[in-house]
Amino acid sequence: MPALRPSASTLSSTEVAASLIMHLKPEEWQALRALERCTLGKATTSAESIAKVSGQPLDRVVFGLSELNKRRLVGSGRTYEMYGPAVDLLALKFYADKDYAHALGKLIAKGKESDVYEVLSGKGDLYALKLFRLGRTSFRDVARKRHASPRQLNTWLDVNYEAARREFNALTRLREATKNVPVAVATNRHTVLLEELPGVRLATRPELVDAEDVLRRVVETVRDVYQGQGMINGDLSEYNILTDGERVWLIDWPQWVGRDHPNARELMARDLGAVARFFARGYGVAADRDELVRFVAGTGPFPQLRTG
Ligand SMILES: Nc1ncnc2c1ncn2[C@@H]1O[C@H](COP(=O)(O)OP(=O)(O)OP(=O)(O)O)[C@@H](O)[C@H]1O
Ligand SMILES: [Mg+2]
Repeated sequence: MPALRPSASTLSSTEVAASLIMHLKPEEWQALRALERCTLGKATTSAESIAKVSGQPLDRVVFGLSELNKRRLVGSGRTYEMYGPAVDLLALKFYADKDYAHALGKLIAKGKESDVYEVLSGKGDLYALKLFRLGRTSFRDVARKRHASPRQLNTWLDVNYEAARREFNALTRLREATKNVPVAVATNRHTVLLEELPGVRLATRPELVDAEDVLRRVVETVRDVYQGQGMINGDLSEYNILTDGERVWLIDWPQWVGRDHPNARELMARDLGAVARFFARGYGVAADRDELVRFVAGTGPFPQLRTG
């Protein structure tokens, strides 16, 4: 994600977007949406092609783009390009129009691959909005050096839009097998809107009512999604498990693989190995990884746990 608005560096890309949502003029929205379509469609992003896509007169589009450029949402030169806050803005506008997002709340977490913000809906419900930022670091370098080619920009948009779609579709399927994943309420562009869970990362080693029971719930959830939907998280660890001390939720699914993946068994064993290691280290509850694998695959009983 490019770093923008250097003069307002205390605001994140998402906060910049939220602050602008009420202020864009109709011709700016039109120009921005048309620019996005050109960028995704790999067409050149000249003002002429943006005008063609938007169906608006060229002078109106050029005016819209220059206003967007003043707001540091769009870069202009020989061709036009979208900056990070512009993409956030389009997604926030989508949720605002649907009344899912009335106000942007606190930053819940800044991960390697996403930012997660709390949002408040018009009805007063709280959601977690996950905005994908894959390639954030290298993209920032690209933008800083001002050598960003339209091809790289396309790749950034495509990769992040695809990750969001993939996570939304995964969560929709997963909910058929378990309640221990967040409900995905909606998706738009590089974002997914999730039910906000009342838990903390297991990695923070919260106090658990019964550590053995929590481990069992995690492993049974892995089994339910494996046997029910043929799905494996592939990146499971204490960082992608939330708990309120009793219940658990398995989060972060864009990299999931199916049971028929060539490395399926290996990835499942790695997921379970990470969980087993963490419970042994963090809570003194040990389980044999291979026995957990057999349990998940349906070829063995739940293993005897050793505590101490
Ligand atoms: N539905 C949710 N409700 C509450 N908090 C959430 C929710 N989804 C994610 N979070 C918070 O955001 C963090 C990052 O989410 P997630 O793991 O899905 O993204 P990520 O980019 O892979 O992050 P990381 O690189 O740290 O693994 C989580 O560890 C959790 O603290
Ligand atoms: Mg994660």
